[in-house]
Amino acid sequence: ATNRTFTMLKPDAVENGHTGAILEKINAAGFRIVALKKTQMTKADAETFYAVHNERPFFGELVEFMTRGPIVAAILEKDNAVDDFRTLIGATNPADAAEGTIRKLYATSMGENAVHGSDSDENAEIEGNFHFSGREQF
Ligand code: CMP
Repeated sequence: ATNRTFTMLKPDAVENGHTGAILEKINAAGFRIVALKKTQMTKADAETFYAVHNERPFFGELVEFMTRGPIVAAILEKDNAVDDFRTLIGATNPADAAEGTIRKLYATSMGENAVHGSDSDENAEIEGNFHFSGREQF
């Protein structure tokens, strides 16, 4: 069924000027843009968004990184959106990411890995609604 995922182009990708190229790959892969904006998360935002990781050793580093500059947030729609988007972006660690994936092309490291993709339909809805109100979603 047609469904949705949520993505962020992370501060490293935006700083490095990859916003346009990444959006083009998303478009070419057949995702429809439901919502899109450039924004910057506060520390409180990042701590809430990544609450599931708050016991991990990299949590502080993750919050620091995700708040250091603007991101581009988007809700995307496509059949099988969550799984197909994760295939498009590639493995969390760019060293393990397949050729042609967004992380293989644009990520720098495991932490600074260029893009986020929701890991389930349930989280896609929670994450999309964290960043976008109902009247920002079309
Ligand atoms: P993502 O899967 O989008 O969301 C959780 C993020 O935590 C992940 O991307 C990485 O940016 C980061 N992360 C995961 N594992 C590590 C790690 N071992 N060291 C640093 N950052 C990590």
